[in-house]
Amino acid sequence: MAKRIVTIDGPAGVGKSTMAKQLARELAIPYLDTGAMFRAIAWKLGEGSWEWDEARLDEALASFDFSLSGVGEDSVLALNGVPIGAEIRTEEVGMWASNVATLPVIRSFLKTAQQSLGERFSLVAEGRDMGTVIFPDATHKFFLDATVEERARRRYRQLQEMGKDADLELLKEQIAKRDDQDRNRAVAPLKAADDAVTIDTTTLTIPDVFQALVDGVQR
Ligand code: DC
Repeated sequence: MAKRIVTIDGPAGVGKSTMAKQLARELAIPYLDTGAMFRAIAWKLGEGSWEWDEARLDEALASFDFSLSGVGEDSVLALNGVPIGAEIRTEEVGMWASNVATLPVIRSFLKTAQQSLGERFSLVAEGRDMGTVIFPDATHKFFLDATVEERARRRYRQLQEMGKDADLELLKEQIAKRDDQDRNRAVAPLKAADDAVTIDTTTLTIPDVFQALVDGVQR
């Protein structure tokens, strides 16, 4: 079957990963979580690394190699052969990732890595600039959106279900701050591609959004 790339972009906490995994399972292809790539780099380099000079960043990046295996929700993204784990899934590391994501040297390194995965595999690729910059010729492009209040509520419920402490107001602040930086950076800012289908998920259930995506790829 012909190779296909489906892109899902959108702001923090809108449900891109949940949807990308489900759609990738439906299509029996891998899903690529590009936020995890920024998070893994930020985590490896550590707090403050976004203030390093370019030569030092270049040297560090040269030792990083991303690989992808599996299909659907069983897709495994690895950095230097080690699957990327739960340690990157905090709001703090999310903010670090948003910080390193403003740097052209990091974006250009990951652009090469992401596009070379796209040459090898069909993908459901989710992030901020999948439809605009990384895969401009994607087969199907989606942009998921929801109000910041709703995204904070979803994250709050998720944390509660995991038995973790959560502060709704703080979550709202953190998400809004990250979105603001992601939308307003100079390189590859968060925005919908002109030819993307935008879905406002604020009042939709997960099955509703999934159905909209499936309808979209069958069109
Ligand atoms: O999707 P996420 O929350 O895991 O992403 C973490 C950060 O990484 C996000 O705030 C901005 C950055 N990012 C990006 O700039 N471009 C992407 N394609 C994916 C993520």
